Amino acid sequence: MSALILGIETSCDETAAALVAEDMTVAASVVASQVDLHAVYGGVVPEVAARSHLDDIVPVVDRAFIEAGVDEKDVEAIAVANGPGLVGSLLVGVSTAKALSLVWDKPIVAVNHLEGHLASAALGDSEVRFPVLVLLVSGGHTLLAVARDPGVYQLLGSTRDDSVGEAYDKVARVLGLGYPGGPPVDRLAKEGKDNLAFPRPMLADGLDFSFAGLKTAVARYLKDNPQYVLEDVAASFAGACMDVLVGKLRLALDEVDVASAAVVGGVAASPVLRDRLDQVSSEVGVPIAIPPLDYATDNAAMIAAAAWPQFRRNGSDPLDFSAVPNLKLPTA
Ligand code: KG4
Ligand code: ZN
Repeated sequence: MSALILGIETSCDETAAALVAEDMTVAASVVASQVDLHAVYGGVVPEVAARSHLDDIVPVVDRAFIEAGVDEKDVEAIAVANGPGLVGSLLVGVSTAKALSLVWDKPIVAVNHLEGHLASAALGDSEVRFPVLVLLVSGGHTLLAVARDPGVYQLLGSTRDDSVGEAYDKVARVLGLGYPGGPPVDRLAKEGKDNLAFPRPMLADGLDFSFAGLKTAVARYLKDNPQYVLEDVAASFAGACMDVLVGKLRLALDEVDVASAAVVGGVAASPVLRDRLDQVSSEVGVPIAIPPLDYATDNAAMIAAAAWPQFRRNGSDPLDFSAVPNLKLPTA
């Protein structure tokens, strides 16, 4: 068995551990979702999330080793997401990783969760060639950035209010579809018609995003049209989101010269978006990397994947790093 990095991810509401080889082979990836715990509140409750990570982290790490059929002797380094995220949640992963690093005498690598999402695109068949244009679409972020080399980014645009994932979650809530909103809204969208003229905020206006107005437009439509067709609302909302995401991606591809693009984060699990990206890629002649479905939403394989090149470049991090809730992408 080749050497593995143990990845640990606890930034929000998934407790995850994974073992990944340097060639990006995933030996094990375990994700314990807290969705059921938070669903009753309609969103993530930070205190509940942190306590649940505490209960789950050791069994989740153990299970990763059992699934991979390896032990700590096969581990070359331990990687952990240290931000951005909820501080109480991040601290559970960071403390666990530090304890394992001390006990097993292994190097430790602090990984930016956002760089983890970017690395997720390399876990499947897609190739991420630099310079790469990154569209990150998650629950916490919606941004466009260029990485000329691994680990250094130039931010091109980001959301001025809600992230696209947040818009999905809020629209799902007013439609009574529960949390998280992405999967049920997309499922209904497939059965409906994109026939309601919801706004495409800031579509032709630079590379920043805004989704709050779209969410409000949907809520107003539901109030004014109590006989609404649920599937058509879902399809029209998803259509508006995707028009904006794809439109901005194309705009950015016109502006910057890149060898590839990568669309990553939880919303990259959307079949509506994945279909559209195929089309864009063939039209613009730039390969667009997307993560395999299992690695689009939060997981630890992406943290280990991001850690490998970082570990080769910089070696071990000193043990005194902390959890950084508002950690940004490292920019040039
Ligand atoms: O990347 P992620 O797992 O967590 C963050 O880092 O934020 O993204 C979670 C977001 C949620 O807002 C969820 O509704 C959305 O990703 N999501 C989806 C789908 N699956 C998850 N959005 C659209 N379509 C999906 N199939
Ligand atoms: Zn994430």
